[in-house]
Amino acid sequence: MVNGRYLNFSLYRIIFIVFLWGFVLPGQGQAVVSSGTCSDCHTIHNSQGGAAVAFKMNASYTGYDTDATPNEMLLVSDCIGCHSSTGSATIVDNVPIVFSTGAFSNPLAGGNFSYVRTDDTYGHNVTGIKAQDGTLGLTPPGGSAMTSQLTCAGEFGCHGDRTSGKTNFSGMNKSHHIDDSGGTTGASTGLSYRFLDGVLGKEDADWEQDNVNTSHNEYKGSTGSSTETVSYLCAQCHNDFHTWEGGPLEVGTASPWLRHPTDVALKNTGEYANYTTYSMTAPVARPNPDAVPSTSQVTPGTDIVMCLSCHRSHGSPYYKAMRWDIKTLGTAVSGCGVCHTSKN
Ligand code: HEC
Ligand code: HEC
Ligand code: HEC
Ligand code: HEC
Ligand code: HEC
Repeated sequence: MVNGRYLNFSLYRIIFIVFLWGFVLPGQGQAVVSSGTCSDCHTIHNSQGGAAVAFKMNASYTGYDTDATPNEMLLVSDCIGCHSSTGSATIVDNVPIVFSTGAFSNPLAGGNFSYVRTDDTYGHNVTGIKAQDGTLGLTPPGGSAMTSQLTCAGEFGCHGDRTSGKTNFSGMNKSHHIDDSGGTTGASTGLSYRFLDGVLGKEDADWEQDNVNTSHNEYKGSTGSSTETVSYLCAQCHNDFHTWEGGPLEVGTASPWLRHPTDVALKNTGEYANYTTYSMTAPVARPNPDAVPSTSQVTPGTDIVMCLSCHRSHGSPYYKAMRWDIKTLGTAVSGCGVCHTSKN
């Protein structure tokens, strides 16, 4: 939500809109419409002329059914209903689409959950998208078993407040209504990078749909024990894979490393010194995402390896949600070689 253009309501508008309530209906078969009235996204009784207003993805993932069961917070749909599409576009009426059920192009920065429907190993098996992972079940590798399948947000999710007992909606805490045009501060879930509680970063306006290194997300990285990095979020579940979260026994502190380091700086010597043009294949995090000297450049010695240097957070077309195919020699070498330039 880069400039809050969608959900920045004044009291005057709210009062005015109350008079219009019920005259605009949400589009079926795609995510919400963009005029921004309350009734685009909320329904007071989930009833209009006796028929249900709410909608949800159907059981075969080919379209949307009306839903007689009202949603939490009087919403017209759930996270998946609003953030999915059967069409090819990945931004629909300014809604970022993260689950495309038909043919599509230009996946957004997090990837797309559609790949997980193809293969469990391609990403996170989130409730409502795919049953639990056939191999991993409820256990995040590097961490301990969870008592519930992954959800989008809340205790068992990545977005919103992850404290015990929080669910998809109780964990979101009005995030969609918060104007974050001033940037992320981490002060609330709404003021956190992509509603990831406490995480900092700079949000690309088109969620990297255009996939160019001149305008992209900037992620916070840290070589200390910062809780503001996206890698720290991943480590809340996959702790043993994180440089300081799992502790030196797990990852090591210097070469020879035990597991691949994350939240360590790219050295400014040797092969790493040659990674100077920001790569959308293997991006780096920055110590201060708001003060990056040049978006399209990398500064060895300063910029930082993160989980998202190698992985997509939702899902990718590759094994283990990698950003490139590590099972084919050529692409495996060229992906790792973005940083390990002498192994290119
Ligand atoms: C009624 C439709 C609707 C529902 C339900 C909904 N969203 Fe959204 N969401 C939106 C819209 C619209 C935007 C785009 C807002 C903007 O960028 O101005 C959005 C944006 C987002 C973003 C991107 C924020 C950013 O900084 O770019 C995330 C993350 C998100 N939603 C997560 C969720 C989660 C998790 C749920 C379920 C708990 C959820 N949404 C439920 C409509 C919805
Ligand atoms: C583009 C979709 C969208 C529009 C338009 C929208 N809302 Fe929401 N609203 C949401 C979503 C999604 C949530 C639940 C998730 C969250 O809190 O981030 C929500 C939550 C709420 C909540 C509960 C917040 C809480 O945590 O207590 C209230 C109250 C609310 N909306 C009122 C309104 C009013 C009033 C309007 C019209 C002025 C409006 N909304 C317009 C999407 C929308
Ligand atoms: C709320 C806990 C949680 C968080 C936070 C989390 N994960 Fe996971 N992750 C899981 C669970 C549970 C599994 C195993 C089940 C599955 O794959 O759906 C998993 C599996 C994975 C897999 C293997 C996928 C597969 O199916 O083989 C990768 C890769 C991964 N996570 C990367 C990440 C990255 C990167 C982040 C941060 C952006 C992250 N995870 C954040 C819980 C989490
Ligand atoms: C975003 C940059 C980046 C990418 C992409 C990357 N690495 Fe690394 N890698 C590093 C850094 C930085 C180190 C730690 C160097 C140091 O400080 O000793 C490292 C360390 C290693 C080490 C340990 C070396 C030692 O001395 O113990 C191995 C092995 C390795 N990487 C393999 C890989 C492989 C295989 C891939 C592809 C799957 C990969 N790396 C992708 C940046 C990266
Ligand atoms: C340098 C690239 C790189 C970085 C950085 C990286 N990973 Fe991975 N990750 C991989 C590769 C490659 C695999 C595939 C399995 C393997 O070869 O070990 C993998 C596999 C995984 C798996 C699946 C393990 C399993 O048992 O199936 C999880 C979970 C995971 N990574 C999470 C993370 C998290 C969390 C971080 C950050 C703390 C992270 N990764 C950082 C490259 C990376």
